Amino acid sequence: MNVTDAVLSRRSIRAFSDEPVSLDVLRRVLDKARMAPSGCNFQPWEATVLTGEPLKALQAKMLASQPQDPEEYNWSAPMQSPRHAARLQELGGLMYGAMGIARDDAAGRQAFMNQNVTSFGAPVLLVCYFERFMESPQWSDVGMWLQTIMLLLREEGLDSCPQEWMGLYARLIKDHIGVSDETHLLFCGLSIGKRLDTAVNTFDRPRVALDEQVKFVGFE
Ligand SMILES: Cc1cc2nc3c(=O)[nH]c(=O)nc-3n(C[C@H](O)[C@H](O)[C@H](O)COP(=O)(O)O)c2cc1C
Repeated sequence: MNVTDAVLSRRSIRAFSDEPVSLDVLRRVLDKARMAPSGCNFQPWEATVLTGEPLKALQAKMLASQPQDPEEYNWSAPMQSPRHAARLQELGGLMYGAMGIARDDAAGRQAFMNQNVTSFGAPVLLVCYFERFMESPQWSDVGMWLQTIMLLLREEGLDSCPQEWMGLYARLIKDHIGVSDETHLLFCGLSIGKRLDTAVNTFDRPRVALDEQVKFVGFE
């Protein structure tokens, strides 16, 4: 698989098969992902990877509890801007539409979003966190690390879904995996496994046109 194939075939998977993923494959991917870039080579990312009983026990705890208050961080700031809010609305329409969940079916939408807790059926969950003193440049470094992992997973025939949703249970998750809430911020989960060929994994994902995002200057 070349880089273009990896980039274009990666998508956020929201229905996984329960086929296990071996430790060897995960170690191979995460070992290569160490080469992701980071400002000043700080490498701010940290993670715990769960599968089997420890993952099931964590999911049972999340299912039995309420989202934490206050939230770990504000994921929704872009909603202040109409053009960003419209992008989320468009995504929601396409995703729920693909599953036949109506726009006004709040309970159906909530029930689907709650499947974040069980990683949409994925057998592996990587929990990504870093030290609280990290600032926005380091958050962006962590994003590059995560994308590197997601692309390497494609090369192994695997899929993923990054999940800010896990931040809603940040304290509970950190307690479960033995990470200090005082020192560390939980950024997201990354569910890992193999995609199922279902509508929620195949709808077209919209993107802003290139020339609306990028200016090219000085070219002939
Ligand atoms: C940091 C991050 C957190 C995300 N959190 C969630 C989440 O909690 N639940 C979810 O279903 N999708 C989540 N997504 C997936 C986005 O909705 C998705 O990347 C976006 O709609 C673009 O679609 P694509 O990944 O399929 O290309 C997240 C993506 C990123 C990068």
